[in-house]
Amino acid sequence: MTAPISEQIETSERLRTEGERKMEWARQQMPILSALREEFTDEQPLAGERVGMAMHVEAKTAVLAELLAAGGADVAITGCNPLSTHDDVSAALDGVPGVTSYACRGVEDEAYYDAIEAVIDHEPTITVDDGGDLVFAIHEDHPELIDGIIGGCEETTTGVHRLRAMEEDDALEYPMFAVNDTPMKRLFDNIHGTGEAALSSIVMTTNTAIAGSTVVVAGYGYCGRGVAKKAAGQNADVIVTEVDPRLALEAHMEGYDVMPMAEAAEEGDVFITTTGNRDVIVEEHFEQMADGTILANAGHFDVEIDLDGLAELAVDSYEAREGLRAYEMPDGRRLHVLAEGRLVNLAAPVSMGHPIEVMDQSFGVQAVSVRELVTNGEAYEPGVHEVPDRLDREVAETKLAAEGIEFDELTETQEEYMDSWQHGT
Ligand SMILES: NC(=O)c1ccc[n+]([C@@H]2O[C@H](COP(=O)([O-])OP(=O)(O)OC[C@H]3O[C@@H](n4cnc5c(N)ncnc54)[C@H](O)[C@@H]3O)[C@@H](O)[C@H]2O)c1
Repeated sequence: MTAPISEQIETSERLRTEGERKMEWARQQMPILSALREEFTDEQPLAGERVGMAMHVEAKTAVLAELLAAGGADVAITGCNPLSTHDDVSAALDGVPGVTSYACRGVEDEAYYDAIEAVIDHEPTITVDDGGDLVFAIHEDHPELIDGIIGGCEETTTGVHRLRAMEEDDALEYPMFAVNDTPMKRLFDNIHGTGEAALSSIVMTTNTAIAGSTVVVAGYGYCGRGVAKKAAGQNADVIVTEVDPRLALEAHMEGYDVMPMAEAAEEGDVFITTTGNRDVIVEEHFEQMADGTILANAGHFDVEIDLDGLAELAVDSYEAREGLRAYEMPDGRRLHVLAEGRLVNLAAPVSMGHPIEVMDQSFGVQAVSVRELVTNGEAYEPGVHEVPDRLDREVAETKLAAEGIEFDELTETQEEYMDSWQHGT
């Protein structure tokens, strides 16, 4: 069974201090979590609860875990991707009273799932997931725990898809909030967060410019829109590929070239997948790509670029730079894959994940959703639930107040007008 990080690797004082520094920097840019920490510390809304978390263990997530512990919970956390853990942060987090961290960077699949089991061993009453691995493991292997679970929260689009698929099969046995689907998460984290962080990870890993290159964005959903917009903002030519005709049309109306991947493969210098789907870039595409092509994935799982297929085509493969693997084709072309095809903004060695301000919002929604489960859990049946709008607004208002931004309120007459159907011409 996996042990806490301090028993897996040597967590020196220096490593912990580095992690604490990263957390302190994150805390300073997270006014929403700071405001909630004051409230949670005073009111102890999570007293007696056990929160199990499987998330990207880096500084912003650590500030969320620390907040839940400050609210009275016993928190056990592990990663939701073998490459996104920052060991220094994991070590520092493991030292926070009320938190045990099992996350360790670079573990093999077996150790990854062992660490999820270690979290489940704490018999969580609430689960917080990014991608659904924890909820899935509980339903699959520990159904006896389900009666003791009030509910959970899911952070990302792929996790919400999995939960809805479970719900359709009548397999989801406790209530789950789709945190991903709130305006305060999706309109900022998926669009701006993924857009900025994916591009900056690519630039830092390759040390090459976005300007002047042709960037192919696969998928024009929330993440794809962000990546396309930021790449265009950095003076790239942007091509979008889509399977939804309305989103393909929207991308066209935004001024991007839209075409099938089979054509885009010949045109692009940099490819970024954001579909949440599998086999988006496969052999027929690799065969068309130019020497020097850069391939990155920003979707949740590492299934969007067919790496096995690429490895089979290649006559040689080597690390061109840290976090960048070159695959040499029989005709001498070199195709480069970032971060083993795992989500580039979190798994590339230089990556830091989304900007802190963005995660303050997403994790603000997580924290108020956990509070809602504890204070009002009996109101929710097993299944996927939208986060109540009042909670999303609360997070937005906290952020605006911290920024010193005032905004208008509806007058009573306006409210009455908006709620009525009798008013016409
Ligand atoms: N990198 C990150 O930090 C981060 C942040 C948020 C979400 N995500 C993940 O990114 C993925 C996308 O999230 P989203 O919120 O943008 O989802 P979304 O559903 O809004 O967008 C996905 C888009 O991809 C399109 N698509 C599906 N299959 C395709 C294919 N074969 N070719 C071209 N387009 C295809 C869909 O039509 C859809 O428009 C998910 O896996 C999500 O979990 C990653």
